[in-house]
Amino acid sequence: MNKLVIEGGKSLKGTVKISGAKNAALPIMAATLLTDERCVLHNVPKLRDTQTMVKLLTSLGKAVECDKNTVCISSNGPLKSMAHYDLVSTMRGSFCVLGPLVAKLGHAKVSLPGGCVIGVRPVDLHLKGLKRLNIKIEIENGYAVASTKSLKGNNIYLGGVFGSSVLATANVMMAATLAQGDTVIESAACEPEIEDLANFLSFMGAQITGQGTPRITITGVKKLHGVDYKIIPDRIEAGTFILLAAATKSDITLKGAYINHLLALTDVLEEAGLEFDYGVDTIHVKASRGLDPMSITTYPYPGFPTDLQAQYMTLMALTPGVSVITDKVYPDRFIHIAELNRMGASIRREGMIGIVQGVKGLVGAQIMASDLRASAALVIAGLAAKGKTEISRIYHLERGYENLDQKLRGLGAKISRRKE
Ligand code: EPZ
Repeated sequence: MNKLVIEGGKSLKGTVKISGAKNAALPIMAATLLTDERCVLHNVPKLRDTQTMVKLLTSLGKAVECDKNTVCISSNGPLKSMAHYDLVSTMRGSFCVLGPLVAKLGHAKVSLPGGCVIGVRPVDLHLKGLKRLNIKIEIENGYAVASTKSLKGNNIYLGGVFGSSVLATANVMMAATLAQGDTVIESAACEPEIEDLANFLSFMGAQITGQGTPRITITGVKKLHGVDYKIIPDRIEAGTFILLAAATKSDITLKGAYINHLLALTDVLEEAGLEFDYGVDTIHVKASRGLDPMSITTYPYPGFPTDLQAQYMTLMALTPGVSVITDKVYPDRFIHIAELNRMGASIRREGMIGIVQGVKGLVGAQIMASDLRASAALVIAGLAAKGKTEISRIYHLERGYENLDQKLRGLGAKISRRKE
């Protein structure tokens, strides 16, 4: 296994290219199961998670060729209907092959994803929504076994106790594209990645309106065709670099980032005193002075994203004063607190709340990555801390950040990858 070694405490400077959005690429790759024709996807980030989806689609009978950030997916004989535990358990995003598979084949058997360090992560909304489309679903030995004689459109309320669900919306929307009649998804996820998926499906010939709002309407069609499509930029990678710039008092320009996908973050950071310049697809962060502590609560989009909560906590750990960070999407998503405290932070967890007493500086230490976004928070902490930080188990990072250490070296960071 690899580790990252960081000599922290210095400001960074330069321009960084933001990669394609992991959380758009995964459901869009799954959506290619809805057609036998060739789909060419551009701006697909080269990550562990997208490689896992390539393996899964190949195991389901697709021919997949990857060339840098372009992925060509075409049929390679009849589709198989079973997504095995060993692939789905390594990446819960695989569960969004269930909707397209059962829509295309009339039956599918997909392993239920496990939980993970950020929470139990149930799939009750996925199953509820798909059943409303006249799909029968049984749970057998840890698998969801789905079948239907004919998909029928319906009105579906997809709100859960934690609000809307991104991948449940994806699963149901994909299945509804081939149903007879209209489907209305009420309390749909509004994330830009769901909007991107809906746009991709529309390019394939699906009839969808309302994407990006809580009510999405789908009119079923007989067939979908192949398409050439470019994935949107990754707003969570962009937000991670903005928070990294603020925490290390750096001057960084992000290329290829959409500011209108990040307004919840830039709004709170501007209020804290961070200055931004915006271009059409560039964001310039010039973090010269200290910020004021600002409290946040995470919500489904357009609220403050839970996927930036850990990274934001690192910034607040370095901002003198008290800030309160509440995660209403994943109330247990605080595994990064213990590791940040080992670096000299002063953070206390109370249920779904982290109370941060900002300190003047952090000190480098040996720490361990635990999940994707907590690992990003630790990299930011290592870059801001005085002295050396070693982060082990960085395969968590490689799931969702393309060439992160290389991009950071391009900004002047002293960071290298070593064998553990
Ligand atoms: C997507 O996961 C993202 N993953 C997550 O990003 C992200 O944190 C999450 O959305 C929330 O924004 C991908 O898109 C691949 P949810 P998803 O269903 O769809 C509860 C990352 O770091 N819920 O929107 O699985 C759930 O427990 C990853 O890139 C139910 O109760 O998340 C959570 O509290 C981590 N029942 C809330 O809803 C369900 O059936 C939101 O989850 C489904 C979800």
